[in-house]
Amino acid sequence: MNRIIPVASGKGGVGKSFITVNLGVSLAGMGKTVILVDLDLGASNLHTLLGIKNNSPGIGSYLNKQADNLESLIIPTAIDRLFFLPGDGLYTTAVQQHYFQKMKIIKELPKLVADYILLDLGAGTNHNIVDYFIPFPQGIIVTIPETTAILNAYSFLKSALARSIYRHFPPRSAERDMIQNFFKQRLEGSGNSLFSLADQLSSIDVKHGQTVRKMIETFYPGVIINMGRSVGDRDLGKNLRIISRKNLGISLQYLGYLEWMPEVSRSITRRSPYCLDHKDQLSSALEGICRRIDKIVPEKSIPLYEGDEDLDTLSWTGSAI
Ligand SMILES: Nc1ncnc2c1ncn2[C@@H]1O[C@H](COP(=O)(O)OP(=O)(O)OP(=O)(O)O)[C@@H](O)[C@H]1O
Ligand SMILES: [Mg+2]
Repeated sequence: MNRIIPVASGKGGVGKSFITVNLGVSLAGMGKTVILVDLDLGASNLHTLLGIKNNSPGIGSYLNKQADNLESLIIPTAIDRLFFLPGDGLYTTAVQQHYFQKMKIIKELPKLVADYILLDLGAGTNHNIVDYFIPFPQGIIVTIPETTAILNAYSFLKSALARSIYRHFPPRSAERDMIQNFFKQRLEGSGNSLFSLADQLSSIDVKHGQTVRKMIETFYPGVIINMGRSVGDRDLGKNLRIISRKNLGISLQYLGYLEWMPEVSRSITRRSPYCLDHKDQLSSALEGICRRIDKIVPEKSIPLYEGDEDLDTLSWTGSAI
């Protein structure tokens, strides 16, 4: 079975694409087969980091029914065992994604044959991003050591968890109303972790409470602190972990810390993945992250509601929190 790992961030420009490509290169170097998927539709740029021309059909073509499946769109890279599924090179309209289109992609991804499938996502908490993050419980959130970026990373985690709990229940249900009301009251400072939402939902059905607890416990994303510049920056991952545990009840895994290195932008200009031609602290840290990811035993996520969605109510993301 393949392992699907979305790479997201609350704030833009923190190094998601750089990290996705280089984790792919490192995993391929460890003998794993990897497919990198450019899901930052509307702003696809993974091909540039891989030194590949943006002229192959990709996800955009699939969404525009120019391809029957995703498998046929995968192209090789210059690196053994590393493959690429392009974004929207030929169809930029793919930026307008409907719910059923996202579901079509999410259902196809597990059919791809590889050890790892890394999804490069856009930044922020909008549905087009969060909905690709939540079906896979061990996604990665990237942040940099700046207060706004850390706060955005935290908001991303909160929105992702809120939306997955919400999407577990059917449209127009009492459960969804209860969840929305819960998030309308401020979570912070109230001492209310999401476990108290589970308790509230138990009042409708005891099983709901158990399911939501399990959702919180099995939501096990990893965090990477990128572009660190001082010793103290290393602790920010731990701090984010502590606050996510305290306020949200989730176990965030601190996957690793990457330093800011001037050579990174040069490698991007040369269009050659950093890990291919550098053996230094940064490339070792990326390899360390791969080993940590490889050790995690994948957990099954709690299924989201699979019936017809009421698109109006589905617009709620938890962004009010
Ligand atoms: N560890 C690092 N050291 C130095 N520069 C870095 C590092 N990581 C990333 N960068 C630089 O940061 C810039 C943004 O990186 P990248 O495009 O990967 O971010 P992103 O999160 O994917 O952005 P977007 O949100 O726009 O998709 C790049 O120009 C890259 O050179
Ligand atoms: Mg990017």
